[in-house]
Amino acid sequence: MSQTTPNEEIEALRTLIAEDVTGWRKKHCLSLFDVSAEQFRAVLDVAVGLKALDLQRQMAVAWTYPRTLAMIFEKPSLRTRVSFEAGMTHLRGHAINLSSNEIGMGNRESVADVANVLSRWVDVIAARVFRHETVEELASTGTVPVINALSDKEHPIQAFADLLTLQEVAGTLGNSLKLAYVGDGNNVLHALLLACAKLGVNISAGCPEGYLPDPLYVAEAKRIAQETGAKVEIGHDPIRAVRDADAVYTDVWTSMGQEAETKERLGVFAPYQVNTTLMSHAKASAVVLHCLPAHRGEEVTTEVMDRHAPTIYEQAENRLHTQKALLMLIVGL
Ligand code: CP
Ligand code: NVA
Repeated sequence: MSQTTPNEEIEALRTLIAEDVTGWRKKHCLSLFDVSAEQFRAVLDVAVGLKALDLQRQMAVAWTYPRTLAMIFEKPSLRTRVSFEAGMTHLRGHAINLSSNEIGMGNRESVADVANVLSRWVDVIAARVFRHETVEELASTGTVPVINALSDKEHPIQAFADLLTLQEVAGTLGNSLKLAYVGDGNNVLHALLLACAKLGVNISAGCPEGYLPDPLYVAEAKRIAQETGAKVEIGHDPIRAVRDADAVYTDVWTSMGQEAETKERLGVFAPYQVNTTLMSHAKASAVVLHCLPAHRGEEVTTEVMDRHAPTIYEQAENRLHTQKALLMLIVGL
């Protein structure tokens, strides 16, 4: 068997990107509210092809004219920054990291001026922001596509990697799969609710009272689920959430920007820890997913984290492949 991807497969991948039948070209990626199931699947399909090429160190899909990504970070990042930067290098482009201190967006100059000036130099802007409205303003005032690299409301690009990982683990995505989410009803859960509903994956969340996901995301996920046959369950019971689950997902109890609430949250979330007892209610074959960074001993025990590290690190790796796919679909060949 050939060690490298055959030319026909590379051509099929190039055609998938070039023809762009799902309409990604020049589109913003601010929220999964605005991403169709077909567009979500296109990201996964292109990512599968790019991942195979990357594992063989084949540069068969890359730009002929070097493209540029500006990355604006109002909050810290390891995965998002490095996966975007490495991805742009793979595609023969370049990424520029801009911390908010450096550029003073909304302070040294307006968001609109930042968006407009960057639009004259770069092909895409990715921004990690405190207020979701900031990515919306960058998108509405600039002239290049904007990617939400995490906001207080949603982490859409995390969901691409999460669903690719689930697809790799299970072989396929659909109504036969159950993803359980235990913990804070936050930006990561919001993206997962929409992603699972769109791809027909059952999702069950267990969150403490007062920490449920935004009802707008729950209502939209339930609306979409009626069409795709997915089940969307939101409750307060972590055991009920993980019962018979194929994957158990958790995230930090205190998100970036909520540090003042850390102590209070440690108490509220203690019964929602993903530990071996909780995992005994999921399927024996269940995997654990975590967007990272993880706080061992808080939302997940060291034991569970270590046992499931191969899947969790694969999930982190998949940030690279799915974001390369997204960039390729947005920019084109
Ligand atoms: N999961 C994630 O977005 O990681 P970073 O905060 O390190 O980018
Ligand atoms: N919910 C977390 C995700 C980090 C990737 C946060 O917003 O800090």
